Amino acid sequence: MGALDGKVAFITGAARGQGRSHAIRFAAEGADIIAIDVCAQVKTVDYPTATTDDLDETVRRVRATGRRILAAEADVRDYDALKQAVDAGLAEFGRLDIVVANAGISTTAPTLEMSDEMWTTMIDVNLTGQWRTLKAAVPHIIAGGRGGSVVIISSLAVQMANANLAHYSAAKSGLVGLMRVLAKELAPHNIRVNTVHPTTVATDMVLNDVTYRLFRPDLEAPTRADFEKAASAVNALPMTMTEPEDITEAVLYLVADSGRYVTGTQHIIDAGGRL
Ligand SMILES: NC(=O)c1ccc[n+]([C@@H]2O[C@H](COP(=O)([O-])OP(=O)(O)OC[C@H]3O[C@@H](n4cnc5c(N)ncnc54)[C@H](O)[C@@H]3O)[C@@H](O)[C@H]2O)c1
Repeated sequence: MGALDGKVAFITGAARGQGRSHAIRFAAEGADIIAIDVCAQVKTVDYPTATTDDLDETVRRVRATGRRILAAEADVRDYDALKQAVDAGLAEFGRLDIVVANAGISTTAPTLEMSDEMWTTMIDVNLTGQWRTLKAAVPHIIAGGRGGSVVIISSLAVQMANANLAHYSAAKSGLVGLMRVLAKELAPHNIRVNTVHPTTVATDMVLNDVTYRLFRPDLEAPTRADFEKAASAVNALPMTMTEPEDITEAVLYLVADSGRYVTGTQHIIDAGGRL
């Protein structure tokens, strides 16, 4: 018996990192997966976003669990593409129970020097993209009449201010407002909506030179070890950073029956960093 036997989950940004981890674990718990990722470079982003090969690897690893997956290349800035992907998943699997709005980007610049393009791209992907995801998918959960669960991946950037991340922090804070309103609107349908706020997670979003320089502006060419030292200093618990699987545990709690009466909440996984 898996925690998600017979369920169907839609996950964005599923080609790698946290999205891939959620997809594999959900499948191992008995769910079929509808997965999308942009699989192309997002303009303004200084590290590589995912590729078609990455999404193929997620597909391979989900299938290795014995569950089904329907994957598509879609940009969360394109509502029609999202709707097409979810509708195709519905046609294939016959139901939808879970949405994890996870796709996101990170860019950095001082607030007052940031280009208009960097600001608007961030809001379009990390805030409006999540709303488009929900708009395309949640009506299918409502139509199923069985209830369900929506998890929106926000960030510790809501609880902690970091220089150079005003646009990211604004987008991720906006998701909390979106979550709270939607939780109220969907409660009569027994659909729960929550946000998850991770501290640093060991994924390609942070394991790159841009982030190393952000954490260690004092060094000319900081290494991963230099970055890890600074990342550890933020935490109260003795650890460096979380792994995608740590975040999956929290997401799984929220989407499975374990979280059946939990809605409208912010789940913080920060090793005590905000204390
Ligand atoms: N890594 C961290 O330290 C950290 C901390 C807090 C929150 N988060 C959030 O967690 C989520 C997952 O990030 P991750 O750590 O797995 O990083 P990641 O870069 O490995 O994964 C993000 C995925 O989103 C995809 N994506 C980006 N723009 C897209 C678009 N326009 N349309 C569709 N897909 C798109 C990327 O291709 C990538 O596969 C993001 O929302 C991120 O903001 C990350």
